[in-house]
Amino acid sequence: MGKLHNTSLVWLLLSLLSQFCSGKQKVPAIIVFGDSSVDSGNNNFIPTVARSNFEPYGRDFFGGFPTGRFSNGRIPPDFISEAFGLRPTVPAYLDPSYNISHFAYGVCFASAGTGYDNATSSVADVIPLWKEVEYYKEYQQKLITHLGKAKANEIIGEALYLVSIGTNDFLENYFAFPQRQCEFTIQEYEDFLIGLAERFLRGLYALGARKVSLTGVPPMGCLPLERTMNLLEDHGCVEKYNDVALEFNGKLGDLVRKLNRELDGFQVVDANAYDLVVQIITQPSSFGFEDAREGCCGTGRFEMGFLCDPNSPFTCNDANKYVFWDAIHPSEKTSQIVSNYLVQTHLAKFL
Ligand SMILES: *[C@@H]1O[C@H](CO)[C@@H](O)[C@H](O)[C@H]1NC(C)=O
Ligand SMILES: *[C@@H]1O[C@H](CO)[C@@H](O)[C@H](O)[C@H]1NC(C)=O
Repeated sequence: MGKLHNTSLVWLLLSLLSQFCSGKQKVPAIIVFGDSSVDSGNNNFIPTVARSNFEPYGRDFFGGFPTGRFSNGRIPPDFISEAFGLRPTVPAYLDPSYNISHFAYGVCFASAGTGYDNATSSVADVIPLWKEVEYYKEYQQKLITHLGKAKANEIIGEALYLVSIGTNDFLENYFAFPQRQCEFTIQEYEDFLIGLAERFLRGLYALGARKVSLTGVPPMGCLPLERTMNLLEDHGCVEKYNDVALEFNGKLGDLVRKLNRELDGFQVVDANAYDLVVQIITQPSSFGFEDAREGCCGTGRFEMGFLCDPNSPFTCNDANKYVFWDAIHPSEKTSQIVSNYLVQTHLAKFL
């Protein structure tokens, strides 16, 4: 840990220095698409049960305030925005307490429970990915009205786009319901999703995006909820799901290389944190954690969303000791470790 701290300090100083010398931030805004891994609260403003705008969510956020983030505190876009010298939080586009003056520096279109597949967003009635893009188009118009065409286009072209999505397509959809399993083998379904990811990324490019960070899926079989259901293997990680995650992430990496070759000026980064998350889960104590099997909230075995009860006597006292905050989502501390790693490695070239 000591070594990690020193490197981050040097990196922080260097990045401050480079911003000071160039007099201008290279990335003027953070723009976010995806699911609950990056949703800062859009679902609070649509009729869905996939929500987290109540206690104990947000208890370690600024002011101890539940925001709709599926975390005890901040999530990766917040940390990444801060690391790029922007605001410490990225607001949700549908939140009426923010307007285009705030969104010019960072905006989140993500929706918990969504996926690449339209059928995934239908499960919990959340915002499909195509609709996130429609909101983004509306945002571009507001930005032009607010700042004029030249400045708006500069922000659109220089912004860093964070995309994190895919887990729900497998866990909420393919492995949970028969429909897609009847239509596709798992490999075919992965390829179907890759096709949708390609269509989405080409769409972003056509709309002016150039710098994109694409994050695939985590070791899904090690999420506490999946371990809880893994009765036959003494609640170990579900290897089948981890294998799918590895295979899917590999295909995403191929897609990234292809798009970078084919689309002039497109800089997509394969922001894969799978190995780091496996390392955190298998050696939690070397990252300062005490528990990597259960979430902090409730018993930690199945609770998330509305099941995360503010009055549960089982909820842990210190979420920093837990890799997971609820049965699916990382704790704020895990998000911070993963974000620091992504900024220092995959995203460093944009700093
Ligand atoms: C946005 O809201 C702030 C107050 O939070 C206000 O000062 C500002 O004028 C608003 N901007 C626009 C473009 O409405
Ligand atoms: C998802 O739904 C949108 C809106 O209805 C549609 O435009 C798009 O083609 C659909 N995607 C697929 C793969 O069916």
